[in-house]
Amino acid sequence: MSDNYKNLADITRKDFPMFIDIDAKKDNFIYLDHAATSQKPQTVIKSLEEYYHYYNANVHRGAHQLSAKATEAFEDSRNITSVFINANSSNEVIFTRNATEAINLVARSWGDDQIEKGDEILISLMEHHSNIVPWQLLAQRKKCIIKFININKDGTLDINDLRSKINNKTKLVSIVHISNTLGSCNPIEEIAEISHKYGSLLLVDACQSLAHQKIDVKQLNIDFLAGSSHKICGPTGVGFLWAREEILNNMPPFLGGGEMIQDVFLEKSTWSELPHKFEAGTPPIAEAIGMGAAVKYIQSIGLDHIQKWEHELTKYLFEGLKRIESVKILGPSPKIQINRGALATFIVNDIHANDIAELLNNNNIFIRSGHHCCQPLHRHYSVNASARASLSFTTTFTEIDSFLEELISSIKFLKNYI
Ligand SMILES: Cc1ncc(COP(=O)(O)O)c(C=O)c1O
Repeated sequence: MSDNYKNLADITRKDFPMFIDIDAKKDNFIYLDHAATSQKPQTVIKSLEEYYHYYNANVHRGAHQLSAKATEAFEDSRNITSVFINANSSNEVIFTRNATEAINLVARSWGDDQIEKGDEILISLMEHHSNIVPWQLLAQRKKCIIKFININKDGTLDINDLRSKINNKTKLVSIVHISNTLGSCNPIEEIAEISHKYGSLLLVDACQSLAHQKIDVKQLNIDFLAGSSHKICGPTGVGFLWAREEILNNMPPFLGGGEMIQDVFLEKSTWSELPHKFEAGTPPIAEAIGMGAAVKYIQSIGLDHIQKWEHELTKYLFEGLKRIESVKILGPSPKIQINRGALATFIVNDIHANDIAELLNNNNIFIRSGHHCCQPLHRHYSVNASARASLSFTTTFTEIDSFLEELISSIKFLKNYI
């Protein structure tokens, strides 16, 4: 590990008002719930404040200077996002409320238009509910079939099962890049090759990967990608769908209203060009501008640095958890899958995850417990809840030490209690 990586938390914590307060002992807690939502650096907070203070106006509407300035900043953010994922053009980036809405957009617009009775959609057992329920709703509307790809014992995707389930009726494979529960990183390029061989499109849920490793939609050779700003140090209330331009051009609008039209007559309407065709109504302007600031911030640190630093932290976290006898970690070890997510989800023999999280909370250590919006996955493991500690480039080894120490005392306490 070079010094660069050693110091990444030290370098970045001073960019976040929350961590500045913690490190100055004005506040006292350890946040290990970055996979649920990331903390926001000053530069993102400042971008929101500047918009509301200096140039608050609607976009693509008025001819006045404020509207022009707001439109420029808003469209800049689209451009920044499109460069971030190496899209062909910023027309391919549609702002949505979050990743969930991006997936629903595909299910409603592309799905309702392209899917017919008996067609198949392939998803995996490790999907977040936001990549399950929209397809179930589509299946109710169109009578298509959803198939689930299994996972291996170590929590990685069973590619052989994918190969055995895909066929010429498969119209879409929709898969998470990094699982928010198992941390497994799925081999997207390989999945793209298999999917396209059968004429299927591929959607990637990049919620847990965008802030942790470089994403290049051209290199991955995918068709759709969904992301949420709040997972990448940006504000809540905005996310995006990326799709290849020819696919978007052929998709009907999702929501109707202002801004997405070209002409409205009494009996019919015609649609705007991309990306506006999919952005009905006043968009989340400040939030989109904030997402652009967040992407710029992440780029300034460098995703290579982030990935290496988080890998060291994750290895350390796993080593500590493995030393605790009653703990069982779900998902592949970072020693075996080096690009896995920076999180560890675990269950403790005879103890409910909520009790662990509550005791840790009493000691100002914040982790997540529950099913993490992955109920089918939890059923697969025959548990209804697990505990998850998730990290970021701002996480320190000391924070992990404190977490492990408190986890051990919590388990001891709860074992005596039962
Ligand atoms: C893997 C994954 N997919 C989708 C989502 C949904 O994100 P959002 O609630 O921002 O739409 C999440 C959020 O936790 C996630 O972790």
